[in-house]
Amino acid sequence: MSVTQPSTNAGQAKGDALTGPLVIVLAVVVMAGLLFGYDQGVISGALAGIRQHFSLSALLTEVVTSWVTLGALGGSLAGGYLADRYGRRRAVLIAGLLFMLGALLQALAPGVLLLVLGRLAVGFGVGVAAVAAPLYGAELAPAAHRGRFVSAYQLAITIGIFLAYLVDSVLEDASWRWMLGVSVVPGILLVAVGAIGVESPRWLVKAGRRDEARAVLARLAPDADAAARLEAIEHTLGEEAGGASWGDVFDRAWRKPLIIALGLAVFQQITGINAIIYYANQIFAAAGFATPQEQTTATTWAVGGVNVAATFIAIAFIDKLGRRPLLLAGLVGMGLALLVVGIAFLSIDGQPPGTGPTAAGIVTLVALVVFIVSFAFSLGPVVWTVINEVFPGRVRGRAVAVATAVNWGAAFLVSQFFLTLIEAIGKPATFWLFAFFCLAGWIWVYRVVPETKGRSLEDIEKSWST
Ligand code: BGC
Repeated sequence: MSVTQPSTNAGQAKGDALTGPLVIVLAVVVMAGLLFGYDQGVISGALAGIRQHFSLSALLTEVVTSWVTLGALGGSLAGGYLADRYGRRRAVLIAGLLFMLGALLQALAPGVLLLVLGRLAVGFGVGVAAVAAPLYGAELAPAAHRGRFVSAYQLAITIGIFLAYLVDSVLEDASWRWMLGVSVVPGILLVAVGAIGVESPRWLVKAGRRDEARAVLARLAPDADAAARLEAIEHTLGEEAGGASWGDVFDRAWRKPLIIALGLAVFQQITGINAIIYYANQIFAAAGFATPQEQTTATTWAVGGVNVAATFIAIAFIDKLGRRPLLLAGLVGMGLALLVVGIAFLSIDGQPPGTGPTAAGIVTLVALVVFIVSFAFSLGPVVWTVINEVFPGRVRGRAVAVATAVNWGAAFLVSQFFLTLIEAIGKPATFWLFAFFCLAGWIWVYRVVPETKGRSLEDIEKSWST
C-alpha cells in the first residue's frame, strides 16, 4: 500500500469533516483493499477443485496460484505511470475493469491457458490498485483522517482474504468457478464508486486543470477556504519542481531509504506469509485435517479471522509503541512459530494419513495462529507504513511503486517455488528456511531500520544526509 505525496491539506483547520465526497473516496480505498485481499485469499480454497478439473501438475498448480503476483508486479509499476498520466481516479477505474475482466476469464475459462490469463489480468489489477488506491486516498484525505484512511486499506485487505476463505468454505470444491467469479461483484462496485468519485485536486493542478481542482476542493470541504488550499497545493508542487524521473529513485542521496524500503519489502515476503495464505488448506491437510471441511474451517478462522483481528493490534500500537518494537517482536513470534511448525512436520511426515488432526496437527494449527498474529501486528501493516514514510516527497510516488513491485516479485518467488521447495528439501526444512529468514530479518531491522514514529516527513528526509 502506498501513502504517497505530501499533504494537499496544509494549513487547513476547517476542512476536516468527513463529507459525502470523502466517504466515496474512503469507499474506493476500502473496495480496492477488499478486492486485493479477496483475490489473494480465494485461491487457497479453489485450488483443490481446479487441480482436479484440469489434472494439474505441481508446476502448473504453482503457476495458477502465483501468477496473480507476477501480474501484480507489472501492475504496480504500471500503476505509478497510469496514476500520473491519467489521474488517480482513472487508474483505480482501470484496476476495477481489470478485476472484472480477470474474474470473468477465470470463471469461464475452458482451459488452463485462459485461466492463467485471467489470473494475470486480476493480478495486474491488484498491482495497479495497490499503488493507485492508497495514493488516491492519501491525497484526498484531510490530514486528521489520513492515518485512518490508510489503516482502512490494510484492514480491508485482511477482510478481503477472510471473505474469500468464507466463500471457499461454503462452496464445494467443484464450485471453484463461482469462488473465482464472485469477485466480479466487488469489481463492479469498485468501478461504480470510482465513477462517481472526484479526481485528486493535486493531480488536477499538476495536469494544469486549476479550475476543476478548485471546484473539487470546494466540494470536498465546503467549510474550508478552497482558494487557500489550492495555493497550498501549488506551493508544495512548486517545491517539488523538476518532476523526478525513475533514475532519481536510485540516486545516491536516497540510497539509505531505498535500502530500508526494499529490504522491508523483501523480508515481508521471504518470511513466508503468502505461502501460508495461499497454501493454508494443503498445510492443514498435511497436518491431519482430513476432510476439506476441516481444512477450510481451520484456514478460515485460524488464518483469515485471526489476520483481521490481529491487524487491530497494529492500528492501536503503531503510533504509540513505534515501528521498530512491533517489527522486532513480530519477527520473534513468526520465527518461533515457524520453528515449531517444522518440528511438528518432522513427526507428521512419518505418519500414515489419519482420520482427524493428530496432536502434531493441533500444534501446527496453534503455531500458525501465532505466526499470523505476529505477522498481522508487525510486518503486515508496519512494512507499508515505513515504505511510505522514508522517501522524500519528490521521489515518493515512483520509489513506492518500485518497492511495491519488489514486494510482489518476492511474493511471486515464494508462492511459485513453495511446493517445489517442499518436494526438494521437505516440509520441516522449508519452514525452517522461513524461520531463518525471520532471524536474518530481525538482525537487519535491529541494525538498519530507524524509528520513524512521531517524526515529521521533513525530519526523516533530513536524517538521510547526516
Ligand atoms: C502483504 C500481502 C499479504 C497480506 C496478508 C500484506 O501486507 O503485502 O502480501 O498477503 O499482508 O494480510
